[in-house]
Amino acid sequence: MKKYIKYRKAIIAVIGFCLLTEFGCVSSEEKSSDLVVYKNQEAPIDDRVKDLLGRMTLEEKVYQLNQVAFGKHMTANNIGGEMDKVSPLIGSIIYVNQDPNLRNDLQKKAMEQSRLGIPIIFANDIIHGFKTIYPISLAQACSWNAELVEQACAMAAKESKVSGIDWTFSPMVDVARDPRWGRVAEGYGEDPYTNAVFSKASVKGYQGNDLADENSIAACLKHYVGYGASEGGQDYIYTEISNQTLWDTYLPSFEAGVNAGAATVMSGFNDISGVPASANHYTLTEILKEKWEMDGFVVSDWNSVKQLINQGVASSDKEATLKAINAGVDMDMADRLYLDHISDLVKENKVSLNRVDDAVSRVLNLKFQLGLFDKPYVTVTPEYNRYLLPEYISTAEKLAEETMVLLKNSDNILPLNNKVSSLAVIGPMANNQEDLLGSWSAYGDAKDVESIYKAIESEFVQSKIFYARGCDFDGNDSAGYTEAINVARKAEVVVVCLGEKKSWSGENASRSTISLPKIQEDLLLKLSELGKPIVLLLSNGRPLDLSRLAPLSDGIIELWQPGVVGGKPVAGILSGRINPSGKLAMTFPFSTGQVPIYYNMRKKARPTSGMYQDITKEPLYGFTHGLSYSNFKYGDLKSSKTNLRKDENLIIEIPVTNASDVDGAEVVHWFISDPVCSISRPIKELKFFEKKSIKAGTTEVFEFHLNPIRDLSFVDSSGNKILESGEYHVSVGNQKIVINLLD
Ligand code: NOJ
Repeated sequence: MKKYIKYRKAIIAVIGFCLLTEFGCVSSEEKSSDLVVYKNQEAPIDDRVKDLLGRMTLEEKVYQLNQVAFGKHMTANNIGGEMDKVSPLIGSIIYVNQDPNLRNDLQKKAMEQSRLGIPIIFANDIIHGFKTIYPISLAQACSWNAELVEQACAMAAKESKVSGIDWTFSPMVDVARDPRWGRVAEGYGEDPYTNAVFSKASVKGYQGNDLADENSIAACLKHYVGYGASEGGQDYIYTEISNQTLWDTYLPSFEAGVNAGAATVMSGFNDISGVPASANHYTLTEILKEKWEMDGFVVSDWNSVKQLINQGVASSDKEATLKAINAGVDMDMADRLYLDHISDLVKENKVSLNRVDDAVSRVLNLKFQLGLFDKPYVTVTPEYNRYLLPEYISTAEKLAEETMVLLKNSDNILPLNNKVSSLAVIGPMANNQEDLLGSWSAYGDAKDVESIYKAIESEFVQSKIFYARGCDFDGNDSAGYTEAINVARKAEVVVVCLGEKKSWSGENASRSTISLPKIQEDLLLKLSELGKPIVLLLSNGRPLDLSRLAPLSDGIIELWQPGVVGGKPVAGILSGRINPSGKLAMTFPFSTGQVPIYYNMRKKARPTSGMYQDITKEPLYGFTHGLSYSNFKYGDLKSSKTNLRKDENLIIEIPVTNASDVDGAEVVHWFISDPVCSISRPIKELKFFEKKSIKAGTTEVFEFHLNPIRDLSFVDSSGNKILESGEYHVSVGNQKIVINLLD
């Protein structure tokens, strides 16, 4: 007995020592016992969390609330540290690497050198693919094919998981209406409903049906909330958002993602009308966690806790920490302020232990859901089995085909007859691989990308193909114009490939103008003087000002930044092998000065006047614009009834005939408008869309199942749904049906 007491004392001393040291140590008692609840795979997750939490010291808890970076991002915005500076107690690592062995080594450190063996959750920005890069998100939205986007996200999840990633900071579901903002490339355009649909699709794709599945990763909805309202399109800047606009424009895409089960949410860099998003109790706690009952956790954006000082709402690191944690930010990304200050804040009773426990429980809960406690290491497979698998490539190709938008096709210049004798492929984008990848292209490698020029060569085997670069993306060097003109002279059709470098969009990549640099515009101008047919191919991360280029071009195809497979789809559209079906998810303004312009602006006092006097009042290419090689004829819009009770549903339908001899796919967009309401609502609001293939000479009927509370109501400035009786319009194209909603 005496011996036992001595032994127990020794164990307590060892545990006590471990509790006191920062790094803790392995306790043989904790490691060997199968009986502790948190290690028991059979026990319910809530019980495991509770049990583990009960064993943790305050310091161990605080570590769980921190994420540090390891490795290097490709941009200068986020630079990580070295692993030996990282404690095995750390909650999460932004793992900027693609080696699963290294990840497993880091995990081993956590499992074996921390007292309780709590696994690390490894995160990375897998925005539109890991190694197989898919089109940028803005392009994905132009496919209007949520199923295909879900599939691409599922494949990106698989590719990430085998490299050791458990959690991606995606999707970005910020509604964005200013194309000068570099980050419009990362979201799904200007419309709340479209963002909501793709929010749900991508969460489902990444997370699958079960987070513990070996192919699933956790999603993160970002940047909560209103970051897309960045003033003047600058980054990291103030956002002016009324509560009304917050509720009807910026919150719906996040609510949709939360309802789809998104495991995490990232608090943004922006200041929401005086209360920064990372210190905003209303949005983070009252809306997200209380009203929507989101049980996942909130991670700050990179240094957004520390940045509360720059934003002028905290005078010190400690105060910034206090504001962020009490507002509802659970995990601190990168700036390590939670590590330095939370323990003291708890001891000073400024942060309650309950709040810390709640945050830690949320983090642990996800780790259990992902199965990290039971299977902390990833199975290392041979590299040829991990990346760029044929099914990934074919999905990337299919998605790219569907995202490209035929903006202009004068006199049906396209498709080019594949007997065209010769083509001149000219421009800085023509033989470029790197920039087709787009921003945030993770581990995408330019050498895996087929250029437009090479793809055109393979597509048009019977034609002579000439190539000249013509000029760089920017600068003043026009020395290459002469060669470009000589090459163009020899060809029947001139294909001009212009656009933006990938670094011109994404984070911290705003532009004061959405025109292409003069050196590119002038190249097209010079080529157009030859009087030959011109087809303009554009690869860019934002809508562009094409007011000078469009009149000089007979055909224009918007490729966006298509990822690893972009050349082949655009070559197929040129030849007619592929019939384009993409439609814009973001308006192309006539010029930069027209910004902001978006289809769902609120109604104005004088609808037909007040616009700029020096340019047209219309955008160059509006929301949902996109041409096809088929000729789709819309029949009459029909509704089963026009008087509707609030609890009744309604089916409205429209037949669409493919009156051509080319098979195609058409997207029907269903809008509603509310002519008189107690608040001023947008001119029209998208409520549903559907894409269907329509064989040549056949008709498909598209249906909209209207549910009054879902489709006709509005939210007030506190988020209450209100459904008023009276007149509503449902429209498709230029047809509308008037519905009378009864009391
Ligand atoms: C900052 C960006 O705003 C965010 O989108 C990204 O996920 C994080 N850095 C992590 O890299």
